[in-house]
Amino acid sequence: MEQYAIKGGNPLVGEVEIGGAKNAALPILAAAIMTDETVIIENVPDVRDTNALLQAMESIGVYVEKLDRHTVKINGSQIHGHVIKDELIKKIRASYYLIGAMLGKYKEAEVVLPGGCNIGSRPIDQHIKGWEALGTKVDIAHGSISAKAEVLKGNHIYMDVVSVGATINVMMAAAMAEGQTVIENAAKEPHVVDLANFLNSMGANIKGAGTDVIRIKGVTKLHKSEYTIIPDQIEAGTFMFAAAVTKGDITVKNVIPKHLESITAKLIEIGCEVEASDDAVRVVASKPLVHTHVKTLPYPGFPTDMQPQIAVALGLSRGTSIVTESIFENRFRYVDELTRMGASIKVEGNTAIINGVDKYTGASMSAPDLRAGAALVMAGLAAEGFSMVDDIHYIQRGYEDFEMKLQSLGAQIEKVESEREIQKFKLKVG
Ligand code: EPZ
Repeated sequence: MEQYAIKGGNPLVGEVEIGGAKNAALPILAAAIMTDETVIIENVPDVRDTNALLQAMESIGVYVEKLDRHTVKINGSQIHGHVIKDELIKKIRASYYLIGAMLGKYKEAEVVLPGGCNIGSRPIDQHIKGWEALGTKVDIAHGSISAKAEVLKGNHIYMDVVSVGATINVMMAAAMAEGQTVIENAAKEPHVVDLANFLNSMGANIKGAGTDVIRIKGVTKLHKSEYTIIPDQIEAGTFMFAAAVTKGDITVKNVIPKHLESITAKLIEIGCEVEASDDAVRVVASKPLVHTHVKTLPYPGFPTDMQPQIAVALGLSRGTSIVTESIFENRFRYVDELTRMGASIKVEGNTAIINGVDKYTGASMSAPDLRAGAALVMAGLAAEGFSMVDDIHYIQRGYEDFEMKLQSLGAQIEKVESEREIQKFKLKVG
């Protein structure tokens, strides 16, 4: 089983190129099947989640060709089935984006229901509410969700919760419905906007993405497009906080600083210097970190996907900090791992009370999920001594070349698969 071996203590210094946004790539790749013409998508991150979705698409007859590591050619004209098999959907929950895409184009779809996740129950009631409002009959039976509509007709839909997935899934179905759809209380994340821009580049008529009211005028046909995905806000934020945690100096390149404003604001609050240019942000952590409070919120608030990363930094910040997780109900599973490294954190419900300590000490840990896994690697890089991180397949779902990018910043980290490789690493780093 692959693990990361880490020797902590080196400040991370240098520049790192940020890849395409995983959470924009997933809906955009799914939406690419909504035309029978060919679509070229650039800046697709080469990570497990995107590759698993492309595999699920091929399983129903979509033509998929990687023109290079980050450019994919897609043609959905030969789709022969609307049922995504369960071994594929178990790999990637976001396969459910294919329901919205196929509903829009074919007025029918069937996908095995995604399981819960390590961060919460992940219901899809708002997705279903939106599709039913457009005239879809949704059935859940034998672990599958099937959606079918004689006609999709636009409607005025109020989301009960701000949901990225539901906003995206309803937007795709509504893009090819008859008449106008209004989505109220819509998610405003950059990846929601990126999908709307992509659909419009194929001839859709979507206005208001990025605000909480999205207006969609259905069209009968979508056409070919060449589209480049936005940079990954969360990958960028992860490396920005890696600078804070290791007392380093990191410049993240190929980013959209506007998408990082809530992350930048918190880094400044805990004592980092941050300077932004038009497509890069530099974070310098030369002073001791100080405490702050943070509550995760939908965009433009502080992202829930950055919650484990800021908690690792606050664990090393002077004073007492409070982290409130308002989006998911089970996103503190990494705290027990961090405690093994000497952190002083008490979790009460959806709140973590963090008393900063002077240092972490290396330990063996397991990644409980994608973002917590990345955060535990950051803690290992800051810790005194040697750490191991297990279950790194979670991290590989959303971070491309994670250890290589960290090595380029001076991190002593290696992917290892055997006791022999661990001993070799220990001898090398001393
Ligand atoms: C997306 O998940 C992201 N995943 C998550 O990133 C991210 O944490 C989340 O949005 C919030 O930003 C992808 O984009 C693939 P939601 P999603 O629907 O769409 C509740 C990562 O690390 N809800 O915005 O599933 C839900 O339980 C992943 O890249 C309902 O109640 O999140 C949660 O409490 C982790 N009913 C809240 O809304 C629904 O029908 C927000 O969830 C849908 C959601």
